[in-house]
Amino acid sequence: MKKLLMTLFLSVPCLAYAAGGGYHLDHAPIDVTDKNSLQRGAKLFVNYCMGCHSAQFERYNRLARDLGLPEKLVQENLILTAGTKIGDTMKIAMPTNQAKEWFGAAPPDLSVIARARGTDYLYTYLRTFYLDDSRPWGVNNAAFPSVGMPHVLWQLQGWQKPIYETDPHDANRQVITGFELVQPGSMTVPEFDRAAADLVNFLSYVAEPIQLERKRVGIWVLLYLVLCFAVFYPLKKEYWKDVH
Ligand code: HEC
Repeated sequence: MKKLLMTLFLSVPCLAYAAGGGYHLDHAPIDVTDKNSLQRGAKLFVNYCMGCHSAQFERYNRLARDLGLPEKLVQENLILTAGTKIGDTMKIAMPTNQAKEWFGAAPPDLSVIARARGTDYLYTYLRTFYLDDSRPWGVNNAAFPSVGMPHVLWQLQGWQKPIYETDPHDANRQVITGFELVQPGSMTVPEFDRAAADLVNFLSYVAEPIQLERKRVGIWVLLYLVLCFAVFYPLKKEYWKDVH
């Protein structure tokens, strides 16, 4: 029993690794309290992702409030489907069956993807689409081998080719260690990294909108505790001064 538990325990990191396709994950430089980054991320999301992905747990008016945007601005700039109102959720019109037929896999709802997969994975995934003629869309992904999603951000990132090296642990295996840009997009590499981080930041917020509130409340709780200490400590001293 002990051995079994030990094996299970030890295999957990391997499972996480397998999900990442073996490619090392870059740390996502995100900050959910950065409203400007969240706003940029929301804009990228509605323009480049909502053709295929919904975020059905998020309502537009909540988005407006949390990101500090007037509802009118959200209605005019972030709601791109006709007939959708500010109180509606971020749903899309693409039927799931059809999508499965087109892509081989249905594009998942992205409401909680940041919690399911982790932000480092998402940050790496969005930046590691690379040219691969053997795939239906002509691209593959280092973090998600044989992915069914096309490289939707190619206009921004451009096209890249993988750089292979021999696996240090297995001489017969080639692993991707980096990328070479063969056709630049409209953004430089640092600009595109920033855009990917903004998107991941937005997905992290959407997966847990309450985290903004928690941080705000947390600061007040700490201030309250400091205040309590300032009042009670002199009081305690006062009470005990005759005892000592
Ligand atoms: C043209 C349709 C399309 C667009 C646009 C699109 N995706 Fe996808 N996406 C897919 C499909 C299809 C899958 C399922 C891939 C699979 O399972 O092989 C997917 C899967 C994903 C996944 C899940 C990966 C995983 O590990 O399970 C994430 C995250 C994702 N997309 C993020 C995005 C983001 C962010 C954008 C916008 C920048 C975007 N997608 C735009 C079609 C699309």
